[in-house]
Amino acid sequence: MFLTNDEEKILAGEYGETRRKMMEILVGLGKVFGAEELVPISSAQISGASYKTIGKWGLEWLRQLDARVAVPSVLNPIGMPRERWEEMGISREFAEKQTQVINAYRRLGIRLECTCTPYYLGITSYGDHLAWSESSAVAYANSVIGARTNREGGPSALAAAIIGKTPKYGLHIFDNRLPAVAIDVEMPEGRPHAGHYGAIGYRAGKLVGNRIPIFTGMRPNRDQMKALGAAMAATGAVALFHVDGITPEIRVMRQRGLANPAALERITIAADEIEALFTAMPVDAVAIGCPHCSGEQLHTIAYLLAGRKTTKPFFIFAARGVTEANRGAVAAIERTGARVYEDTCMVVSPAMERFGTIMVDSGKAAAYIPNMCGAVARIGTLEECVEAATS
Ligand code: F3S
Repeated sequence: MFLTNDEEKILAGEYGETRRKMMEILVGLGKVFGAEELVPISSAQISGASYKTIGKWGLEWLRQLDARVAVPSVLNPIGMPRERWEEMGISREFAEKQTQVINAYRRLGIRLECTCTPYYLGITSYGDHLAWSESSAVAYANSVIGARTNREGGPSALAAAIIGKTPKYGLHIFDNRLPAVAIDVEMPEGRPHAGHYGAIGYRAGKLVGNRIPIFTGMRPNRDQMKALGAAMAATGAVALFHVDGITPEIRVMRQRGLANPAALERITIAADEIEALFTAMPVDAVAIGCPHCSGEQLHTIAYLLAGRKTTKPFFIFAARGVTEANRGAVAAIERTGARVYEDTCMVVSPAMERFGTIMVDSGKAAAYIPNMCGAVARIGTLEECVEAATS
């Protein structure tokens, strides 16, 4: 693997022990995956931020690092809202540990935005190379924005953040981004909702595994593609998908005579396979925002809740930057009894473990909640979630 003089010096420890270790991680990864060089990145998103997932050993590892990040870097959701943890039912003991994790990242110069939707924070655009680690963020960046990132682990994303570069292999290379399988979707009747796209992704991920799919027969908006990619990344290992005529890179590929869906293996997802995932059952709580809500979603929730009061716990999750830009919608939602929380999510927070059945509008949450929270998950559309939370 080719290294510049400066990169060699970092590897030799001339810029400190932490940078040496971080370079060692990147070079090790690059060698395993056959990278020829490192490529500069424009931002990093680092998982391993919830104390629930990293525990005391992860915290100790973070504490001994001594360097600053070289590019704008944010965190994945942590286990609690930074200020409102008590209100969410988090124990003081957990809150103290979680705060220590946050402080360890703060020392490294990482922005204390804890979100799986860093693309709402203006830190990437088409063609950028990134080192992002949360699977839905990776799918969105690659597919909807047309940026380039592999699905990094927490340590490799942190190493890339500190060095400002990542090994150039996998999805950093155009030829590795071509679709391998075409999926025809028969959409259910009526106006499709993000919940439907979450259900399609839930099914599609199981069918394609880690292959790159191209979808035909649908015209999702950005929030719907967010739901689609998140679910596919959860039930499969999809880090990039294309939607014919919609996602940015597929146009470039088609102009070059590449990626014709008619030439690929084809899979059909029927409308009744999608509808079958929407099962009716009583729920104890409702949670929206997996991945974290966009501003538009917050406004839609506020609109659907107008004139209602919640009858059971109703959690909505969004990035701090998004709630701050949509304070009116957040206030309107909270007047109904629902709660909008920043920094955390329904899967990584221990607060959700007290419920037996949770209703979500997300295929990813439906896939993760049973294992991560020990609860049954039910998928609904956003309208059904609001109805369940207020009736
Ligand atoms: Fe984000 Fe948590 Fe879902 S990290 S994608 S809200 S599981």
